Amino acid sequence: MSSPLSPLDALPTPAILVDRARLTANINSMQAAADAAGIELRPHIKTHKMVGIARQQLAAGAAGLTCAKLSEAEAMLPSGVRSMFVAHSLVSPLAAPRLAALAERLDDLRIAVTSEAHLEALARLASLTGKKLSVMMALDTGLAREGARDAASAGRIAAQVARSPHLALRGFYTHEGQYYGVPPAERAAKLVETIGRLSDLRDSIDPALPIWPGSSSTAKAILAMGTRLVQAVRPGTYVFGDLSLCRTTAVMRDDEVALHVLATVVDKPEPGLVLIDAGSKVFSSDRTPDTIFGRAADGRDVAVVRVNEEHGYVRGADVDALKIGERIAFIPAHVCVVLNLTDEVTVVDRGAVVDTWRVDARGCVR
Ligand SMILES: Cc1ncc(COP(=O)(O)O)c(C=O)c1O
Repeated sequence: MSSPLSPLDALPTPAILVDRARLTANINSMQAAADAAGIELRPHIKTHKMVGIARQQLAAGAAGLTCAKLSEAEAMLPSGVRSMFVAHSLVSPLAAPRLAALAERLDDLRIAVTSEAHLEALARLASLTGKKLSVMMALDTGLAREGARDAASAGRIAAQVARSPHLALRGFYTHEGQYYGVPPAERAAKLVETIGRLSDLRDSIDPALPIWPGSSSTAKAILAMGTRLVQAVRPGTYVFGDLSLCRTTAVMRDDEVALHVLATVVDKPEPGLVLIDAGSKVFSSDRTPDTIFGRAADGRDVAVVRVNEEHGYVRGADVDALKIGERIAFIPAHVCVVLNLTDEVTVVDRGAVVDTWRVDARGCVR
């Protein structure tokens, strides 16, 4: 008689696995680093989009949550959060009633002002809420996305916000996504310089205002600096980790990664190539700089090098030893998009399936 399948073997693939113990370790270790530095942690929920994980971050000591979109913020309300920052360029008058309702539900709601061009639309939107809204000013530190590009522009934004009856400047924020490409040896010196520049800029406007940088590529390094110049950090990806944090940036180890894509070998059409049942609809089309979509979590040289919608093309020194039907857990290149492509995750603990969690804010992009 054949032995019964373990719950993990019985799971249809592709499946998204969350390792509960590693998730908890990642949440607690970032919180411990923030507590030791005396700096607030305001994690970005875009990575996990799950109320239960937000609740766990808050219970560990997070001062509040960061969201990208209003719908994400609304989805996180059941976590019991009291302080939220919506870090995106809100412009639509349609957002006014939702913003007003969110402000009513929270002790502290902050929204973003991301440039002089954005401020005009934001001030109009804020006036429609009939409330005075707290704003955090985006400062560009090198990603060249949103944010004031220089001190003169930041000064003009601050002056215009001060004249707006519906806006109050409460601080500054940044997203250092460009640090994913900075070699580890250069990171510390670059960060000291970046934070020094941010602090000078803040002092030129109002030394009492906080600075909230936000990226998993820099959060632990900032916390370890023991700086008094920064008041909160807002990392997101650290809860799970991915190839961008483990390989591109090397701020996490593979064995700390808490989310894997479980896929099955479905074909071996030629030597050196294996096909799996997970493609771009699972991994997304995001790749590492060396164009990898996912790598085997167990350290074998088995990498997803190309994706179609339902197929992953797997190559590497160890692929010929793989068997049809074999299951492989992969670390994805970019975990945040993987989460937004799945309705639920399978929670595992020491190899056993222990739960299924819904991705509450899946698809919340408005
Ligand atoms: C505005 C903002 N803040 C914080 C984060 C979190 O950064 P990370 O994904 O590096 O943890 C992001 C990520 O895209 C972001 O766009």
